[in-house]
Amino acid sequence: MPHYPVEPFRIKMTEPIRLISTDERRNAMQQAGYNLFALRAEDVFIDLLTDSGTGAMSQEQWAAMMRGDESYAGARSYFRLAETMQAIFGFEHFVPTHQGRAAENLLVSLLVKPGMSIPSNMHFDTTEGNIRARGGRPVNLVIDEASNPISHHPFKGNMDLNKLRSFIEQTGVENIPFGCITITNNAGGGQPVSLANLRAVSALYHSYGIPFFIDCCRYAENAYFIQQREAGYAHKTTLEIAHEIFSLADGAWMSAKKDGMVNMGGFLAVRNPDLFQRICNELILREGFVTYGGLSGRDLDALAVGLWEALDETYLAYRIGQIAYLSDCLHQVGVPTLEPAGGHAIYVDAGRLLPHIPQSQFPGQALAAALYLQGAVRGVEIGSVMFAHPDPDSGAMVYPALELVRLAIPRRVYTQAHLDYVVETLANLAKQADRLRGYRITYAPPLMRHFTARFEPL
Ligand code: F0G
Repeated sequence: MPHYPVEPFRIKMTEPIRLISTDERRNAMQQAGYNLFALRAEDVFIDLLTDSGTGAMSQEQWAAMMRGDESYAGARSYFRLAETMQAIFGFEHFVPTHQGRAAENLLVSLLVKPGMSIPSNMHFDTTEGNIRARGGRPVNLVIDEASNPISHHPFKGNMDLNKLRSFIEQTGVENIPFGCITITNNAGGGQPVSLANLRAVSALYHSYGIPFFIDCCRYAENAYFIQQREAGYAHKTTLEIAHEIFSLADGAWMSAKKDGMVNMGGFLAVRNPDLFQRICNELILREGFVTYGGLSGRDLDALAVGLWEALDETYLAYRIGQIAYLSDCLHQVGVPTLEPAGGHAIYVDAGRLLPHIPQSQFPGQALAAALYLQGAVRGVEIGSVMFAHPDPDSGAMVYPALELVRLAIPRRVYTQAHLDYVVETLANLAKQADRLRGYRITYAPPLMRHFTARFEPL
């Protein structure tokens, strides 16, 4: 029997959820144009759309919010956050932002010119979108194991160093304003990156004089995987591992809605004082003054506490254990997933479950829609709806390697019974997988179409 870790907390506030009828679900989906983002949240029973901003805050965080200092400039809340930032990340400078994509926009708008390329292991959707919106090219150079759903490589988020070296040689350093890496690799299954790989990536970028940035929204989960899996780190704390990770980089940005344990927030941190000055100018124009950056004082205080809680190893053992439990249960009932389980989510392999649906008919979308219709469980497609795009040179459609449905687990929110319900729903669906049909897009905007596209079943 798969092991479920006991929650290291108990619940003192509840939020009701309800399961609407099959007919109501069918209706809701039609109204939503079969896009799960267009559903009303109250029509969802178990909401695994994202782990972003959907976690439960602790009593310490709620208490910290009451101390929020709402001064426009120089608030105490800012200095409390700055102290935490220094203690964990150690960058010389940072600005708060309202979320991760605001930090991405700041960095990309200042550094990326049309035609430039930005390599990473894999960019997530908002990073890709921000780069493309400025005429840049996001490039994914993750190791080949990442696209093999059954490979048990312990660090499937690693960058392929040979691919990175030849990419830099071919593209020319003058066309690469910065390089980055995403930890954990969300677009590729929430898979971690090893410290050995981070060290080598940093050295490679720096040997060409390319600044190295980390997209670190799930860095605490990544640090825990390093502690558990990488030789030499079993006796290091997650904080010590975080220090080592960030010492390698010239900067980092974070959507704090993940391992910041808050419902809203983010930051952009850098070492270079000139770049920091330009970031401040841009921030003031678009987000807010440098000591609040689009957040309330109370948000800054909640984040100053949440960043510490995410590094707590008792919490992380529960968190990663809960995801592993869901993965083990799904394997028992024959639902294929991307292996091994990632840090924040299970990625059901729609490509393997629905081999009769071609990528042009969106197997991930078909599975995500069916999962809602079957049991009001909401996941998110991470496949061709999200990532297929025309090649900028040839115009031919480029499809992603995997067609996935991500079931992201909000932090400290759902219990074992909730996860068991998800397993049951998916098990029932898997039995009738050959009856599922693909979808056609009836509307899509030019960038990040998955948020607002509309569909029709085929
Ligand atoms: N980078 C990564 C790796 C992310 O996963 C996200 C968000 C962002 C950047 C952007 O941050 O949402 O605060 O603007 N991912 C969410 C998700 C939305 O569902 O995985 P944001």
